[in-house]
Amino acid sequence: MLSLAPMQGLTELLFRKVYSICYPDAFDFAVSPFLSLTHGNLKDADKKIEDVMPGPNVGLMPVIPQILGHETDEFIDLANRLNDLGYNEVNWNMGCPMRRVAGKHRGSGILPYPDEVNDILSEVVPNIRCSLSVKIRLGYRNNDEIDKIIPILNSFPIKNVTIHPRIGKQVYSGVPDIEKFAEVLPKIKHPVSYNGDIFTVGDYVRIRTRFPQVKDVMIGRGALYNPLLPVMIRQRCPDDFSNGDRFVNASYPSAKMFITRLVDEIMVQNISDQAKTRKIKEYWCLLSKSISGTEESKRRVLHADNLEEMRRLITEMTK
Ligand SMILES: Cc1cc2nc3c(=O)[nH]c(=O)nc-3n(C[C@H](O)[C@H](O)[C@H](O)COP(=O)(O)O)c2cc1C
Repeated sequence: MLSLAPMQGLTELLFRKVYSICYPDAFDFAVSPFLSLTHGNLKDADKKIEDVMPGPNVGLMPVIPQILGHETDEFIDLANRLNDLGYNEVNWNMGCPMRRVAGKHRGSGILPYPDEVNDILSEVVPNIRCSLSVKIRLGYRNNDEIDKIIPILNSFPIKNVTIHPRIGKQVYSGVPDIEKFAEVLPKIKHPVSYNGDIFTVGDYVRIRTRFPQVKDVMIGRGALYNPLLPVMIRQRCPDDFSNGDRFVNASYPSAKMFITRLVDEIMVQNISDQAKTRKIKEYWCLLSKSISGTEESKRRVLHADNLEEMRRLITEMTK
């Protein structure tokens, strides 16, 4: 199976909606960007989980809500509330590399502390009414931190372990540590999914061929550089078509059409022009890789004077 990676500020409902309409069968499911246990309080509980509220998610790719944090009571409350809303699985973020998160033993910052992981799982697992999966890195400071985490994960009924084989300190620099992934894979008794640097069909095929036992492959940035990548993977499209702009298949909207629809969707959001501009810029930085045009003309979009001008430039480049 192919899944869409959680990417805070990018793979939220707005993106999943436009993506699901354009490429309905491309991803089997998505994991939501993290819902933080420490943002807001119970009074604005609905706001916190807005992204995964069932109503607007109906008909889109199925989504597994992801939780970030180590506060066990809040974790249990949130997971059970999500279960009340119909979710039968939540995902625990053990991978976030951001220093302000990791410094508080959250995300990948918990990986050097196996006892804490054990304590949290001992509290959470028996008290939530849904399954728990985890998304994890190899460690925060060292790639052997996972060695002490695996026996703990193995001692709980975890539904799935998605591994991004970098350490937290790397953030996204360097390359995934495939040899360490190969070493730990047979030691994990739960289904394992792979995530990291799948940018082409060839990248996908290499992982699938070397690790046939991997359950799902999760794609993040690759789908934002080229929204057609999952479709191309399913069709085993050769890599010389790796630029979505050149991938012509009458059944699917082109990358250009996807960008246009995403911008249209941002334009109708109930947010300020400033917020719309910021959002479009964020997506443009990634998605413009999938269309032809000079770097100079792509940069012009980012330097547009106002929202209308930005939209006009994008329309010109995507027609
Ligand atoms: C901007 C950004 C936001 C991210 N937000 C999350 C998140 O909310 N939860 C999470 O588990 N991982 C998050 N990630 C990590 C991705 O899910 C994924 O593990 C990472 O991008 C590597 O996969 P890729 O090479 O396919 O992009 C984020 C990554 C980026 C670049």
